Amino acid sequence: MTGNGKSRWADDEEDAALEAQLRKEKEEKKRLKAEKARKLGAEKQAAAAAAAASAAAQREQQAHYDGDEGANNGPPSKRRRLSPEHETAGAGASSSAPAGGSSDRNTSSSSAPKLLRFDGGAFGKSRSVEEYDKLNDIEEGAYGWVARAQEHATGKVVALKRLKIDPKDRSGLPVTGLREIQILKDCDHRNVLKLQEVVVGQDTSKIESIFLVLDFIEHDLKSILEDMPEPFLASEVKTLLLQLSAGVNYLHDNWILHRDLKTSNLLLNNRGQLKIADFGMARYVGDPPPKKLTQLVVTLWYRAPELLLGASRYDSAIDMWSVGCIFGELLTREPLLQGKNEVDELTKIFELCGIPTDETWPSFRRLPNARSLRLPTTNSAGARIATGSLVRAKFPLLRSAGVALLNGLLALDPDRRLTAKEMLEHEYFRQDPKPKQEVLFPTFPSKAGQERRRRRQTPNAPVRGQAVADLGAVDLSGIFSGREREERGGGFSLRMV
Ligand SMILES: Nc1ncnc2c1ncn2[C@@H]1O[C@H](COP(=O)(O)OP(=O)(O)O)[C@@H](O)[C@H]1O
Ligand SMILES: [Mg+2]
Repeated sequence: MTGNGKSRWADDEEDAALEAQLRKEKEEKKRLKAEKARKLGAEKQAAAAAAAASAAAQREQQAHYDGDEGANNGPPSKRRRLSPEHETAGAGASSSAPAGGSSDRNTSSSSAPKLLRFDGGAFGKSRSVEEYDKLNDIEEGAYGWVARAQEHATGKVVALKRLKIDPKDRSGLPVTGLREIQILKDCDHRNVLKLQEVVVGQDTSKIESIFLVLDFIEHDLKSILEDMPEPFLASEVKTLLLQLSAGVNYLHDNWILHRDLKTSNLLLNNRGQLKIADFGMARYVGDPPPKKLTQLVVTLWYRAPELLLGASRYDSAIDMWSVGCIFGELLTREPLLQGKNEVDELTKIFELCGIPTDETWPSFRRLPNARSLRLPTTNSAGARIATGSLVRAKFPLLRSAGVALLNGLLALDPDRRLTAKEMLEHEYFRQDPKPKQEVLFPTFPSKAGQERRRRRQTPNAPVRGQAVADLGAVDLSGIFSGREREERGGGFSLRMV
């Protein structure tokens, strides 16, 4: 109707106004389309991890404002930044704009589209994985893949880890992947694994091919513990624990919860240096922590009792529980609390640490799953059962400072559990035998340097989006009775009522 030239009918005022409006609408549509295309481009770029730093920061911040897994808690009152130099280098976009925030979109349309700018942080454009030659696989699981590789240009040996992305999930790079990149990139501590760069696979349209280039570390503690003929000496356990607590203290000081500390995520190089790895479950938290965090964190055997009892508000104490479990494992070479499921895990915890009471854990009954829990008061002989810890009996070779440290880490009440800082200053490390110097640490043949690491079957960290186990009404009152049946594998204590 309205050809290219001036419309035949558009000469009165009303027509002109209509035409102007139509033109405006068309322009607006065009503008929106262009903006969408720009946004898409930017997202692709983020997916290619070129701008992993700022994208992650922005999304992390947004997730942060939303609470962890959905709840709206408002911005954290306190959060220290680890890498101010990146922020200043990254100029305006990443530091001045809480990009992605809805408030941004609501402000005047004339303001620059800060949301869409990705300045690339410290990485610039991602290089290709082709810069590296694969030497051998280290780990290959359902999702995970880690390999030893060598950079062509320098001959440097590194570890390549492919980001875990569910191929069925088409919604882009998962927040966990962004967090892993962001947190590793921010961290700078000798006991935290170092991320060198993020590289992309040949086919950059495929979101599955994003790789972390990490310092290659010869061993993980789990493989060493499985293979060593003799347990670590007391002085060696101390060296490992000191380094672990230094690394965890650094994370907690910087508002990072690891949420999957276990021996297979602790690496050890041939110079006796321990590195905390695998930040796939980690996240930043504020102070106070968000009200609603996912309970599906931490591999079952290392999971704190408050998580098993359904706490959705938790803090760094959950990592310290895992540190306690790792302490026990370093002493015996066996995971300390090998529950078959959530209820069994709780049963094993209460057997070792005692049944919680109003004195040892005042807020215990307020936890969601604790309300329906029936706890024993007497044992099979009718005597009142001990509510105290059996740690001393289980570790007869541990001296009193060691027992105190382990009990402090395995305190049922998270508010009474030792912090990483308290652990660092613990008497245990000052007592003889003193921690062994790292350089004097024994070396072990590296499995990662030769072939894929062999593993016994152990549980994995929970998968995001999995349903939380509903413990239902649980009767634990048989924990301390019927040992004879237990020995025969009678499944003594896990009656659901
Ligand atoms: N930088 C590294 N150097 C050597 N081996 C590594 C490195 N990072 C990870 N690994 C090995 O790969 C395994 C899996 O890596 P991890 O980061 O824990 O991924 P996942 O999320 O699959 O558990 C580790 O248990 C360790 O044996
Ligand atoms: Mg791992």
